[in-house]
Amino acid sequence: MKTGFLGAGKMAEGILSAIADKKAVVMAEKVPERRAALEKKYGVTTTASLVEAVKKTRLVFLAVRPQDVAEVAAAVKPALTEKHTLVSIVAGKSLASLRKAFGPKAGLVRVMPNLALRASAGMSAVCASKGTSESAVREVVKILSGAGEAVILKEKDFDAVTALSGSGPAYFAYMAEAMTEGGVKLGLKKDVALLLAMQTMYGTAKFLRENDVPLRTFIEGVCTKGGTTAAGMVKLDVPSFKKTVAETLAAAAARSKELGK
Ligand SMILES: NC(=O)c1ccc[n+]([C@@H]2O[C@H](COP(=O)([O-])OP(=O)(O)OC[C@H]3O[C@@H](n4cnc5c(N)ncnc54)[C@H](OP(=O)(O)O)[C@@H]3O)[C@@H](O)[C@H]2O)c1
Repeated sequence: MKTGFLGAGKMAEGILSAIADKKAVVMAEKVPERRAALEKKYGVTTTASLVEAVKKTRLVFLAVRPQDVAEVAAAVKPALTEKHTLVSIVAGKSLASLRKAFGPKAGLVRVMPNLALRASAGMSAVCASKGTSESAVREVVKILSGAGEAVILKEKDFDAVTALSGSGPAYFAYMAEAMTEGGVKLGLKKDVALLLAMQTMYGTAKFLRENDVPLRTFIEGVCTKGGTTAAGMVKLDVPSFKKTVAETLAAAAARSKELGK
């Protein structure tokens, strides 16, 4: 299926990297330098015209910032047909609001991806409006799975997804920042502490994803009795820590709900 992009920024490029047939991709993008760079790097077709991208493709990713959606919808609505499926990755825009903005004809898929898509290790949740072709939804899941993991969920879960995997990269990076600062306080050079923190975060995530070990078993395995990790965990494993994390996610979910209104 020919794939189009409305907006060719950071996230669009992450998704593009997972599309095998880049010659069948048409990307509409405002910035001329960005168009030239994408053509050179991937061999895709680019255009300044949103309507051209819609007319030449069937599966159309909406990848502009939330504040640009109304303008894009006004431009492409007359060009969308029953043969199109519009796939929105825009945070907070519900299927109902997209339907209102883009009209009744095209199939609609809503995706909540995360930034790790840009490293082909993204986490995306997918839901579709009633009547959207199953083959189009399968195609979306296939593309997103090529840039990480993709799961089909109900739209009611999207605020929680936004809070956990959507915002999650910032929370893990914050933890790495805190560990880097802790390492510096113990006398390490900042760049060394940063490398140690980041590679430890990456390696731990890789190990846990590749091995079927429950988190609790893993934690207890590292925390040998009387050892160094156990001494550290005395400070971290307190009810207030998990409470703070839960409150962080709840605040992000509440904001997602508010933005979706
Ligand atoms: N970044 C994340 O972690 C993340 C996670 C989940 C979901 N998302 C969603 O993904 C979407 C894209 O985010 P992003 O980080 O990729 O944004 P981005 O890098 O700013 O990309 C958006 C691109 O669309 C272009 N654009 C805007 N209006 C246009 C128009 N009328 N015609 C053609 N091109 C147009 C922008 O050009 P200008 O810069 O010139 O306006 C920009 O190059 C957002 O809606 C966001 O909510 C992002």
